[in-house]
Amino acid sequence: MPKVLIATVKPFAKAAVDQIKSVFDKAGYEYLFLEKYNGESELIEAVKDVDAMIIRSDKVTPAVIDAAGNLKIVVRAGAGYDNVNLEAATAKGITVMNTPGQNSNAVAELVMGMMVFQARNHFNGTSGSELKGKKIGIHAYGNVGKNVARIAKGFGMEVAAFDPFVPKETIEADGVQVFDKVEDMYADCDYVSLHIPANQHTIKSINRELLLYMKDNAVLINTARKEVINEDDLIKVFEEKTGFQYLADVAPDNKAEIAEKFEGRFFFTPKKMGAQTSEANINAGKAAANQIIGFIEKGDTTFKVN
Ligand code: 3PG
Repeated sequence: MPKVLIATVKPFAKAAVDQIKSVFDKAGYEYLFLEKYNGESELIEAVKDVDAMIIRSDKVTPAVIDAAGNLKIVVRAGAGYDNVNLEAATAKGITVMNTPGQNSNAVAELVMGMMVFQARNHFNGTSGSELKGKKIGIHAYGNVGKNVARIAKGFGMEVAAFDPFVPKETIEADGVQVFDKVEDMYADCDYVSLHIPANQHTIKSINRELLLYMKDNAVLINTARKEVINEDDLIKVFEEKTGFQYLADVAPDNKAEIAEKFEGRFFFTPKKMGAQTSEANINAGKAAANQIIGFIEKGDTTFKVN
């Protein structure tokens, strides 16, 4: 009977846990949940005899892979898999998958929520501004970007996007303006929302040079990864562009300095919570469980990323 480890430092909602259990019960699989654990050593211990793993932002390091003698598949219940060491997994013949699209509406709703919160001055009772009539630029038009576009239109916003990997016609079919040059989009929008993955090409790529193209009171929203921001440059941009605002899920490493110097111009979630909804947890958790069963029973490698 295959054994699955569900390792989540940040646990799934109870409803999702119940549904994941039910998927594995029906398939006759064994499973164990390792939630809110403290550090790699606990994960190393738990992974020893399992055939499959479901994770969220949990770090699957070479040491974890090394300890996992029977492991055949890791499914990241979510979109970004920058937390999995793909080289180590591939070297051991372990398949890595994600569950694209399953939590994207939740992340997109957080984008809009943070924008409203900022536009209304953190609900402090003073007059703020509205999103209607403002322009949002979506940096990378994947599943989350597409959902942001859909909801932003409902708010009456003008919507634009930059994504060299998605055909122009696909984006335009959603009634979204396409920019061929990223700088032009940053220069033209009141809000820019980041949806790029964190990889060798994108880490620290959101830098001073690019951010200085933004309008004076523009708002940057980052629900992607904090690593894509050049945090030293971020401080410089806050200083040089005195209306610049930054909303992020989650806080940059230099959040204390930002909080001390730039009051009212930022908001950071205390913990990454874009995908923290019951619905997203159920969608991504169940998809991950079903992908594991499909892979083990039928060799289905849809959504393999390595
Ligand atoms: C993702 O990549 O899917 C999101 O960042 C969600 O991450 P989480 O599962 O850690 O909440």
